[in-house]
Amino acid sequence: MEDPFKYAHEREDEIIWMSQNTNELDTSPLIQRKILSAVKSKKYALYPHQKGHLGLRETLLKDLGLENGFDGIITNGAIEASYFLTRAILNKGDNVIASDPSFMPIHHQIRLCGADPKEIYVYKDPYHMTVDEINEAVDDSTKAVLLIDPLNPLGSSYTRDEVKGVCEIAEDNDIWVIDDITYRDFAYDHTLATEFVPERTFLIYSFSKNCGFAGMRLGAVIIPDNMFDEISRWRSNPLSANILAQVGAKVALETKSQWLPEMLEQSRKNQKIIKKAIDNTDGVHLPVFPSNTNMFVIDIQETGLDPDDIQEVLLKQHDIFVRGGTYVSTKAGENFVRASFTVPEPQVKKFAEIFPEVIEKMR
Ligand SMILES: Cc1ncc(COP(=O)(O)O)c(C=O)c1O
Repeated sequence: MEDPFKYAHEREDEIIWMSQNTNELDTSPLIQRKILSAVKSKKYALYPHQKGHLGLRETLLKDLGLENGFDGIITNGAIEASYFLTRAILNKGDNVIASDPSFMPIHHQIRLCGADPKEIYVYKDPYHMTVDEINEAVDDSTKAVLLIDPLNPLGSSYTRDEVKGVCEIAEDNDIWVIDDITYRDFAYDHTLATEFVPERTFLIYSFSKNCGFAGMRLGAVIIPDNMFDEISRWRSNPLSANILAQVGAKVALETKSQWLPEMLEQSRKNQKIIKKAIDNTDGVHLPVFPSNTNMFVIDIQETGLDPDDIQEVLLKQHDIFVRGGTYVSTKAGENFVRASFTVPEPQVKKFAEIFPEVIEKMR
C-alpha cells in the first residue's frame, strides 16, 4: 500500500486530518501574534536557553502545580523527551509495564534500550491497565510503569485511586513511574503521579494536542530535582527546541484559562456528533465514551471489515484521514479505527455523514 501520509501531505489542504490526534481548533489569537512578532524581530537567529527559553519551563511547572521539587527540560516534542528518558533509566534486560493498545513509538524506544515493554492487553473493560494487572506483571526485571494517562488510542483514563494504586506498586517495588500526560488537558478529571510518588515520577509533556502545536514540535520532561543531572546528560539535543514554538507555548500556557474551556467545549461537542453517527451505524460502536482525549476508537469487529481498507476508502474517496488500529495495537489493531475530532465542526459533520455510508457500502 502506498504511504498514506505521503498521499495525504500531497493534498494537505484538502484533507480532513483525523489521523494523528492533532488539534486545529481555536485557541488564542494572541499566540499567533506573539509568534509573528518573534519572527519579525528575528528571534530565530538565536539559540534558546538550554533548559527552555524565556521562562517557558517555569511557566509549565506552574501550570502543573509543581514549582517546588521539580525541574524540567523543554524538548522537540514529547517524543524526544521519552527517547532520552528511556535511554537514561533503562538497561538491557529491564522491562517496563505498559499496555496494548498504546502509543507504540514509546515501546519502540524501550526496545532500543535493550529493554522489553511488558504489554498488558487492555482492549477490554475498563480499557486501561488495572492496578491488579500491573501488580501481577511486576517482576525482578521491572524498572518502570508506563502510564499513558489519558490513553492514546482508547480515550480512557485513570481515577485518582487508580493512580494512587499504581504509585504504591512503584513504591513497594522500587520502580519508576513514567507518566505520559500528553492528553491531560482534555480529561474530565486528571491526577498526576507526582502527587503520590514525586521522587520516582517522570512526566512526559506535549504541547502538540492541548495547544495545537504538533507541527511546532515542542514538549518537555519534568524530573524530580535531584535527578536532573542524571537525566539531562542523556538528552539527545542539548541546544533546546524551536524558539518560536517556545515563545508561542509560553503565551498559550499563560492564557490557558481564556481559551481552554471553549476549545474543550467544541472538542466535546464534536465527540457527540460522531457518537450519534456511530450509534446509527450497524456493527460499529465506541468502546470508550466520552473520551478523555481528543480521539476515540471506533470498534468495527462486527462489520467484518479490515480497518486498513476503511482507512484507504475514507482517504482516497473522501479526503478523510483516520488511522487503522494496527499502528497503536499489535493484538487488537484489527478491531478498530482511531479517529480524532479536534478538527473544525464542518469537517466533523462531513465525517459523521460519510462514515456510516462507507461502512454500509463496504460490507
Ligand atoms: C501518548 C503520546 N505521547 C507522546 C506523543 C508525542 O507527542 P509530541 O508530538 O509532543 O512528540 C503522542 C503523540 O501522539 C502521544 O499520543
